[in-house]
Amino acid sequence: MAATAEQITDLPVLTEAHRESAPHPVNGYKRFEIGSFRFERDEYFARIQCPTVTHVMDVENFMRSMIRDVAWGFFYGWVNFDEVFGTVNNYDSVDVFMGAYNQAYKDSGTDFTERFEPGVLQACFKGLMLDWTNAGFNPFAAPLETGSGRGPKNGSNDEAVNFQRELADRFVSLPGDTPIRSDENGRPVNRQFADVDQSEPEVHAEAGFEGQLAAFNLFKYLSRSPVTWNPSIVSIVRSSAYCPTSEEHILPVDHGNDRVEWFIQMSDEITWRVADKDSAAPMSVVTMKAGDVACMPADIRHRGFSPKRSMLLVWENLTPGLEKRYASGELPPVPATF
Ligand SMILES: [Fe+2]
Repeated sequence: MAATAEQITDLPVLTEAHRESAPHPVNGYKRFEIGSFRFERDEYFARIQCPTVTHVMDVENFMRSMIRDVAWGFFYGWVNFDEVFGTVNNYDSVDVFMGAYNQAYKDSGTDFTERFEPGVLQACFKGLMLDWTNAGFNPFAAPLETGSGRGPKNGSNDEAVNFQRELADRFVSLPGDTPIRSDENGRPVNRQFADVDQSEPEVHAEAGFEGQLAAFNLFKYLSRSPVTWNPSIVSIVRSSAYCPTSEEHILPVDHGNDRVEWFIQMSDEITWRVADKDSAAPMSVVTMKAGDVACMPADIRHRGFSPKRSMLLVWENLTPGLEKRYASGELPPVPATF
C-alpha cells in the first residue's frame, strides 16, 4: 500500500461529492465521508479513517488546522495537520494523505493518499467545519480569545467559519482600496497591541500627483486583526505578494513549502520548529525577534510558536509553475549558498 512518488503522480482525480450522515444520536455531530476517507468527531477528538489506519487528533487542534486549510484554499504545497494527516495542493487537484510524509508510516506500508478535485474537497471540509463548530468557538481565534470547541454539539458559529481574509483591491489608502482597513470595519485594537501607535502617516504629494501618492499605518491595521495565523494580502506587484498577519499561540499546521518563503518579524517574537518535509524528522529551531528576516527553504515544513501576539510579514512568490521548478531540482531549495 505504500505510495511511491510515481504512484502519487499517477493518482486518479476523484470528483464524487462527499456524504454526510444524520447527526449522531448522542453527541449530535454528523459524520463526513469523501472518497475512502471518513471523518467523525466526539466531545474531545476527531477520528480520521482511511483504508490503512485510523488516526485520532484533539478536536480543537484538528479544527484550527482545517479552518486554515479551507480559508487558504489549500495554500501552497503541504498543509500538515500533524506529523501524519494533511493535504497537498497540486493547484489543479488536492491530495489528502495519511502518513505519506512520515518515514515510519512509509516504512510500515500504512501510508495512504487520495486525490480530489479541489471544489468537491472544499465543499466537504467547509460542511464539516460548519457542523462541528459550536457556538462560542472561533477556530481562527487565539485560545485566550475564544471559548472551547469541545463537548457535545451546541449551536454553531457560521460567521467565524465563513470569515474571509482581506484582499486589497488596489494600493491601500488610495481611493477604492476597500475593505482592507480593519479600523473602518469597527474592529478594536487587540489587547496585546494597546501600545501600537494609531496615527496615520502624513502624505504631501508634489503638485500634479495628488491622489496618486499614498501611505498607511500597517501596524495600526495589524493591531486590529481579529484572527491569528491567517495572512491578509496588502500588496501584489506582479508575482510578489506581501502577506502580513498577526500571530498568537501555535500555528495549527506544519506548512510544507513548495517554494522558498521569506519571513520578516515585525514585532515581538516567534519560535519556528523546522522539520524535513518528506520524513517529518526534526531539523532546526529558529527564534525570530522583531526586525529579524529569515528565508524558509523550499524543502522543509515549519510550525510557529508565538508566546504573545506578534506581527509577521510573509513574503510570497506567486510565479506560476514555481513549485515544479523546485520539485524537479532546477532551482536549489535555498535562495543563497554561503
Ligand atoms: Fe510556509
